[in-house]
Amino acid sequence: MLHVTKSFLPDLKEYVKYLEKIWDTHHLTNDGPFVKELEYKLGEFLEVENFIFVTNGTIALQLAIKALGLNGNVLTTPFSYCATTNSLIWEGCNPVFVDIDPISLTVNSEQIKSLSKHNSLSGILTTHVYGNCGDLEKQELMAKEMGIPLIYDGAHAFGVKYQGKSIFNYGTVSTCSFHATKVFHTIEGGAVMTNDLKLADKIRGIRSFGHRNDDYFDIGINGKNSEFHAAMGLVNFDNFPNIKKHREISSSLYDSLLKDPIIKYDYNSELERNFSYYPIIFSSEEQLLHVTEKLNNNQIYPRRYFYPSLNNLPTISGNVCLNSEDISKRILCLPLSSDISEADIVKVSSIIMSSL
Ligand SMILES: Cc1ncc(COP(=O)(O)O)c(C=O)c1O
Repeated sequence: MLHVTKSFLPDLKEYVKYLEKIWDTHHLTNDGPFVKELEYKLGEFLEVENFIFVTNGTIALQLAIKALGLNGNVLTTPFSYCATTNSLIWEGCNPVFVDIDPISLTVNSEQIKSLSKHNSLSGILTTHVYGNCGDLEKQELMAKEMGIPLIYDGAHAFGVKYQGKSIFNYGTVSTCSFHATKVFHTIEGGAVMTNDLKLADKIRGIRSFGHRNDDYFDIGINGKNSEFHAAMGLVNFDNFPNIKKHREISSSLYDSLLKDPIIKYDYNSELERNFSYYPIIFSSEEQLLHVTEKLNNNQIYPRRYFYPSLNNLPTISGNVCLNSEDISKRILCLPLSSDISEADIVKVSSIIMSSL
């Protein structure tokens, strides 16, 4: 059986070394030494001044939205995981969807400009989908001119660099997910990152109930993560270069085997990628469903990331976004993991090509 991904597990002995230390100290959670070490190491690696480790990528988004005081209309992408839209709605905001650019599948900067003329906005929340990005400087400038904060949901973008610098340096705040299915994971986990110290202090405060000892300074929530999760992160971080290399080699093999009429997803040329996903685009939804059936018959389970387009979620009534609606019907993520074999990639590719 081959799924769209397979969670990486490190050498058990390496993880047990950390567990033994936890057993010695009895420090299980609440800003323990492994959480602090992970925050320091990842902050340095991702080149951000403030790195805040939290329980998951959804809470990371909610903390960012709350700390920035977003309310009312927020511009957002319809092409992402439902956590992006749901976080806004959960925090009482109204998502206004910006259609995507048909190549990068990230928000169309020109549409940001036109939608901002007809809506009063409190912020922008968009996604570095598949670890890719559009014109980040342009988007930053637009947000600045509008006087509103820009949040990047970087759930897929761990370790990605744009124009030679960490992608998490763009926007007012960036978030990431360290869920077990991600290129780097802490089983469950996530982060909020910002170079604004005042904002970081606010997020740190509300991550932990909004109080320090007897000083109750804010209305917070519990977004802290544990020593066990941080320990998994520390072991996995050491393995990240090898994980990324294997995914890069596997992606190149797919590149060489998949041909016309498969449309390969194009990444921004100024990007140092992390190879988090391998999406392909079909000419039609019928073709996608036909190929998926053939793969499923061989116990291969790709995923329709991201389907449906979020403006069409049955739980909301979003504005029309033609590009996102069209792409979401035709895009499929193929199996990719830290140890997928060459033989499996050859098999997936040959079933796809022979069924077209
Ligand atoms: C784009 C995006 N945002 C947010 C999330 C939520 O992250 P988590 O599962 O860590 O809550 C995900 C999860 O896959 C995601 O893909």
